[in-house]
Order: sequence, then structure tokens, then C-alpha cells
Amino acid sequence: RHRIFSGIKPTGHLTLGNYLGAIRGWVERDQHQADALFCVVDLHALTVDHDPARIRRLTRQAATLLLAAGLDPQLCTLYVQSHVDEHARLSYLMECTASDGEMRRMIQYKEKAAREAERGGSVRLSLLTYPALMAADILAFGTEEVPVGEDQTQHVELARDLAVRFNQRYGTVFKVPRATRPEVAARVMDLRDPTSKMGKSHAETSGIVYLLDEPDVARRKVMRAITDSGATGAIEFDRVSRPGVANLLSILAACTGGRPETLAAAYGSYGALKKDTAEAVVEVLRPIQKRHAELCADPASVDEVLRSGAERARSLARPRVDAAYAAVGLLPVA
Ligand code: TYM
Repeated sequence: RHRIFSGIKPTGHLTLGNYLGAIRGWVERDQHQADALFCVVDLHALTVDHDPARIRRLTRQAATLLLAAGLDPQLCTLYVQSHVDEHARLSYLMECTASDGEMRRMIQYKEKAAREAERGGSVRLSLLTYPALMAADILAFGTEEVPVGEDQTQHVELARDLAVRFNQRYGTVFKVPRATRPEVAARVMDLRDPTSKMGKSHAETSGIVYLLDEPDVARRKVMRAITDSGATGAIEFDRVSRPGVANLLSILAACTGGRPETLAAAYGSYGALKKDTAEAVVEVLRPIQKRHAELCADPASVDEVLRSGAERARSLARPRVDAAYAAVGLLPVA
């Protein structure tokens, strides 16, 4: 069976974007088809200002929500990144493989660093080296497939480049991974600002549906979505000229298993489209929230999943990371 790895960063409450862009595919397809590992990447959450108690809480919540969404510890491995030392160990070798220039070219780095500069703040060095840690996450496991939303494609491509470069320099240690993404909703946009992605760490939350939003809250957010004022009333699927409507169509299609292009033809008014989208979202969230509440009543079971997940992840990563250390010329422990 081939190997799949993916991760999620506990920097905020999980969103509908995380679910439709990544988690749902992990649950419905990946864990059944492959030896899949899913990781709450808490080390990555330290790349921006953070509150220790909040990160701890969000890490547990993310793990609980992933189980609530349907990851099955009988089928896949779920764990927390900082519980497995191999991530940080390999990250250093990835920093020694990557160049400063290619890190600075990463779109997410440029955007986040620019935002930080605007606010007069400083940028953590780890924000720049972030893709080296992400490459380590992926490569440590001999991963072939990395199911992610569209915004992570560039980082996975860098991981590919680093795998190829490392193998050429030191002999073959790593498999060369590729990104996969869902056909629909690989980039869910903010409902109030449909030209930017729905992001869990955004400060303005009126355009973001969180997986734990109460049904009325989620419904209201969808009903207040921006629908491209100024455009003609007709409903068409055009991401460039009609980003707001295209976003709603994508969300509705992803939630109901349809195609956005086909759905566009079925609607004559924004009101009906919004209403159906709101209901479809609420129906997707309902079972996740119910299961989440049950799991919250039994935190010890979540701890046990994470403990055994980390143990398995450690044993899988260890030999390959040791091999990489030996390959670059570090003297093995006698
Ligand atoms: P993160 O935590 O930002 O997002 C987790 C997953 O959700 C996807 N996603 C979206 N998909 C569609 N629409 C959106 N609006 C949306 N927002 C987020 C992301 O693409 C991602 O798949 N760097 C990664 C975490 C990571 C990782 C890894 C992923 C660290 N190491 C190794 C894969 C493999 C991140 O910040 O994801």
C-alpha cells in the first residue's frame, strides 16, 4: 500500500475550507486506500505570535475534530507533530538542502511577512524556514501522496525538489511526493471577501464558517455572503468575474456531491442559492458536531489515539531519518 501524509496547523479553529479542501478527502478516500498518516502540526503553529495555552487547546481540539469528522484510528495514524522528534531532526537536514532564495519565493511567506511588516512587527525566522519543516514532515515517511488544498501546492512542490536534490547529492533516501487535491472546493474563499481564501487565523470572522459554528451562526454567515454586486442577476460559475457566486456554487457542490457548473444552471436567484448552500453546510456540520461533543466527554480516548499514533509514526520515520543522517556524512551513534 502506498503512503499518504497530510497535516493541519492548530493556529485557529478549523474551518469549512479545511474540511472541504482536505479533511473530507482524508476521511472518505485516503484512509481507506493507503497507509495514511495525519498530523496536527503544532510546531508549525509557533511560526507566528502565539499563546501557549491556546495552542495546547487548539491542538487537542483539532485532533478531536479530525476524529469527529471520521478519521478512524483503526484505518489510519493520527498524532501530534511535536510528539515525534524525527520531524525536527529531519527539518534541519532540509534546511541544509534548500536555498535561502527558494524559501523567500514562497507565496505564503511573502504574504505573511508583508502583513507582519505592515503592522510594524518582526517575522520569526521559522516562518521563513517553515517549508523545510513541512518537507521533513512529508519525506520522513516515504510519502507518495500529499492530499492538500490548493494553497499548499507550492510547499509540496518544494518538498519534491528537496527530495530530488537530496537524493542526487547523497544517494536515494527519499521518495518523491506529489500533491493531490479535491476536484471541487480546493480553494474555499472567504464569504465576505471572496477574493481571499477562507483562513482559520483571519481576524475578521464574519466570512468564515467554523466546523464548530452553531447551525444558526453558520446559516447566517452563508446568508450574508457577498454576491458580486454590479453583476447581472444571472447565476454563472465564473471564478474571476463572479468570485462570490462561484464560491457559493463550489461550497454547495462540494457539500452535495454535484458540479458547480451544473448547479449554476439550476438557480434563478441569489436568495435560493444562498438558502440551499446554508442548509447543505449545516447538514455537513451536524454529524461532526455531534460526534465532537461525544469525544469531548471522553478525552482519555483521544489521548490514547494520539499516544499510539505517535508511537507508530516514530517507528516509521526513525529508520529513514537515520539513513538521511548517515547519508550526509554524520557519524552514526556507535
Ligand atoms: P493548514 O493548517 O493551513 O490547512 C490544512 C489543510 O486545509 C487546506 N485548506 C483549504 N482548502 C480549501 N480552501 C481553504 N480555504 C483552505 N484553507 C486550508 C490546506 O490546503 C491544508 O491541506 N502547511 C500546512 C500544514 C502542513 C502540512 C504538512 C500539510 C504542515 N506539514 C505536510 C501537508 C503535508 C498548513 O498550514 O495547512
